[in-house]
Amino acid sequence: MASRSILPTDSIICGDCEQVLKDFPDDSVDLIITSPPYADARKKAYGGIHPNGYVDWFLPKTEQFLRILRPTGTFILNIKEKVVGGERHTYVLELILKMRQQGWLWTEEFVWHKKNCYPGKWPNRLRDAWERCLQFNKQKKFNMYQDKVMVPMGDWAKSRLRNLSDTDKRRDESKVQSGFGKNISNWLARDKAYPTNVLHLATECSNRNHSAAFPLSLPEWFIKLFTEEGGVVLDPFVGSGTSAVAAKRLKRRYIGIDINMGYCTESEKELQNEEEKAILEKTYSYCRPSPMSHR
Ligand SMILES: C[S@@+](CC[C@H](N)C(=O)[O-])C[C@H]1O[C@@H](n2cnc3c(N)ncnc32)[C@H](O)[C@@H]1O
Repeated sequence: MASRSILPTDSIICGDCEQVLKDFPDDSVDLIITSPPYADARKKAYGGIHPNGYVDWFLPKTEQFLRILRPTGTFILNIKEKVVGGERHTYVLELILKMRQQGWLWTEEFVWHKKNCYPGKWPNRLRDAWERCLQFNKQKKFNMYQDKVMVPMGDWAKSRLRNLSDTDKRRDESKVQSGFGKNISNWLARDKAYPTNVLHLATECSNRNHSAAFPLSLPEWFIKLFTEEGGVVLDPFVGSGTSAVAAKRLKRRYIGIDINMGYCTESEKELQNEEEKAILEKTYSYCRPSPMSHR
């Protein structure tokens, strides 16, 4: 077998991710986060794949993802099945089953609730306001830094915790003797809680030059949850570079791949802007007058 080259971190590579990744070393990436082209949906923009052929198209790519992901790493796949012939197509469900056969664990499913979804009326369905973010892993024990994404406890603490029952105030042991209990009393003095698996984020509204760009906060959240500073984040369908920008901002190493040269250039530009912003911020921090300088 040909020797694999070293990992090309902090770069955007133009090409078919399936081919490009063949040159990456095994077990070398901490997080793969991506939104692949939708089945058939945006033919004009970057060529659609028919829903019936989607699984066969995608599986050789996930085979590469599986090989290059570290055993403690995570793969987040943002995807939503298209409506074909009046019903939801089953290619996402079929893909999950095939990926499990390939060796993946389907560990979790996050819901991205799109807070600002399009207004409209359809005869047989309501406004589509959510997408799946499927989580896959290579093993049960993977890196997860839940403390990095904690959220304010909010009103729940004021109302629910004020009216605790006696059981709530003691440790409420599991009825099935699992050793776990909800232990609500533990949360009494805290102002932060772990978040749920539903992400309430607006879709991208700024002027990114891509018709299907992530909001920056989506990759940012997963990067914080599954990697530490210096970790390697790959987006094999990077589009306008959102995941790479998020990774760079959070001091992770990024790799972005896209088959479309225009999008690769766009990503490079976004990353360059990010670099300039960081330099400006640093310079500004040196110039900021200290409280003493007013005396
Ligand atoms: C849904 S978009 C990704 C958008 C991205 N999340 C963003 O924030 O801009 C999917 C991208 O996959 C790219 N693409 C399609 N087939 C590809 C392939 N085989 N290898 C790499 N990129 C591909 C398309 O050019 C497109 O930019």
